Amino acid sequence: MVRETHLHVEDFIYPIFVIEGENIKNEVPSMPGVYQLSLDRVMEEVTEAYNLGIRGIMFFGVVSDKDEIGTGAFIEDGIVQEATRLAKKQYPDLLIIADTCLCEYTSHGHCGVIHNHDVDNDESLKLLAKTAVSQAQAGADIIAPSNMMDGFVAVIREALDEAGFKHIPIMSYAVKYASSFYGPFRDAADSTPQFGDRKTYQMDPANRLEALREAESDIEEGADFLMVKPALSYLDIIREVRDNFNVPVVAYNVSGEYAMVKAAAEKGWIDERKLVIEMLTSMKRAGADIILTYFAKDVAEYLNK
Ligand code: PBG
Repeated sequence: MVRETHLHVEDFIYPIFVIEGENIKNEVPSMPGVYQLSLDRVMEEVTEAYNLGIRGIMFFGVVSDKDEIGTGAFIEDGIVQEATRLAKKQYPDLLIIADTCLCEYTSHGHCGVIHNHDVDNDESLKLLAKTAVSQAQAGADIIAPSNMMDGFVAVIREALDEAGFKHIPIMSYAVKYASSFYGPFRDAADSTPQFGDRKTYQMDPANRLEALREAESDIEEGADFLMVKPALSYLDIIREVRDNFNVPVVAYNVSGEYAMVKAAAEKGWIDERKLVIEMLTSMKRAGADIILTYFAKDVAEYLNK
């Protein structure tokens, strides 16, 4: 009666990795229970999530054919575009949230194009806008740009509007830190930068005011949701964003946060189920309305019971 915070299955977005090839279901070594799935098997996972009541999915592509500009991100028959078409066809009421970035498709693993050994912000924006439009054309319901280039929301908004997608909202990864918690994801998506790091575009974990500046500029550019990423070490930032803006706030419970829990549980050192509920509840208590999490199916199961 007096409990203030509740988890609901409709709070969650479930990330799924789609890999090129046939009949593939590879477990990600650092993420037990998370798989890379080929297009012919990905609907098994989507269906499982759907049947548990999950209504938001995000696809990440894993491809071997990479190039300097990340062409695989924006081609019409790109792997995420194909997965989106399949999922929307079978489940029209399932929300497909598209992660708009180039790092899974560039040979160097950076989130934009490289000129003179660094990411060229403005050149990257053009390709990101193309990527967003191709995702919307494939049926994505929400565009979620995670690349952290300056001005990405404005450029993507304009491109979507021009292409006839005025109604498609933007879930901006507004506050994204240059975090060591992304390690397992980069194994899963094969997107580790081949040189340097992402510190020229992602944020310094020591900064709080910068998070507010990032969020503010994204709102001015037209963001409809604000995301904070990672979540667990940034609960204070989630609260700041919640208190200062009136759009839905999304927390990304990232791969490293998932891997730590799974590793400790495997050793029998913690009670996984209780810990997961406690972690996700803390994110909601901090102010998140929506949580992107690899635990989505597990929690849905607990909640359904
Ligand atoms: C970048 C992107 C990253 C994640 C999702 N999209 C991070 C990165 O490599 O910088 C990480 C998600 C996770 O760790 O679960 N496009």
